[in-house]
Amino acid sequence: MIALGIDIGGSGIKGALVDTEKGEMVTDRLRIPTPQPAKPEAVIGVLKQIVDHFEYSGPIGVGIPAIVINGVTWSAANIDDEWIGFPAQQMMAEVTGCPVILANDADVAGVAVMRFGAGKDVPGTVMIFTLGTGIGSAVFVNGHLVPNTELGHVYLRGQKKDAENHAAERIREEKNLTWKQWGKRLNTYFQHIEFLFSPELIIIGGGVSKKHEEFLHFIKTRATIIPAELRNEAGIIGAAVLAAETS
Ligand code: BGC
Repeated sequence: MIALGIDIGGSGIKGALVDTEKGEMVTDRLRIPTPQPAKPEAVIGVLKQIVDHFEYSGPIGVGIPAIVINGVTWSAANIDDEWIGFPAQQMMAEVTGCPVILANDADVAGVAVMRFGAGKDVPGTVMIFTLGTGIGSAVFVNGHLVPNTELGHVYLRGQKKDAENHAAERIREEKNLTWKQWGKRLNTYFQHIEFLFSPELIIIGGGVSKKHEEFLHFIKTRATIIPAELRNEAGIIGAAVLAAETS
């Protein structure tokens, strides 16, 4: 079916109509800057704008950078604290007039990567990471998602802050790190992750994954580590797939 997928990010909210069987966008991607502060009312207003732009009615899948349990958001690392304990899925449905399925943004992107991308048919533990404003994680065991893993928030030895505040793509930009400097930080992070989970495969997504040749070789893990070829589109495609499956 054709469904609307929306990816709420720290800097932009992106949406497109998706053919959920093929895992392909069938329209251009509409990107609207994330309102600052990213409070629920303002962000949900943007969702409504996206729905109106596509003149869409039908199920909507939405990925958000938060822990999501039964449609309620329970964390807010790069969005406003008002999301904590907020009945987000229900409010999104009320404002847009469409049924909404809400999940963590990295989990949603992971669904697309496992269904249509580099994780397809890979057994065992597969871990997908999105490098952007934060570090998102999605963990699959024999194709089944373990939701809300939040591995961007682990602490690394000697660091007094979450790993994502040391190694996210945002930090590379803010601190003007060279690829090598950033690659070393990623290496420390992924070696720690590998020690904790021993995955078969690590897949790196997020917009910066298109520049994987610059930094992936600095990451030395026993597990195979590869870029997600769906990049920034995975969040939209995965969201639409979830919408189609739960409608
Ligand atoms: C959030 C996660 C999110 C990740 C990527 C983190 O700061 O806590 O929920 O998946 O950023 O957006």
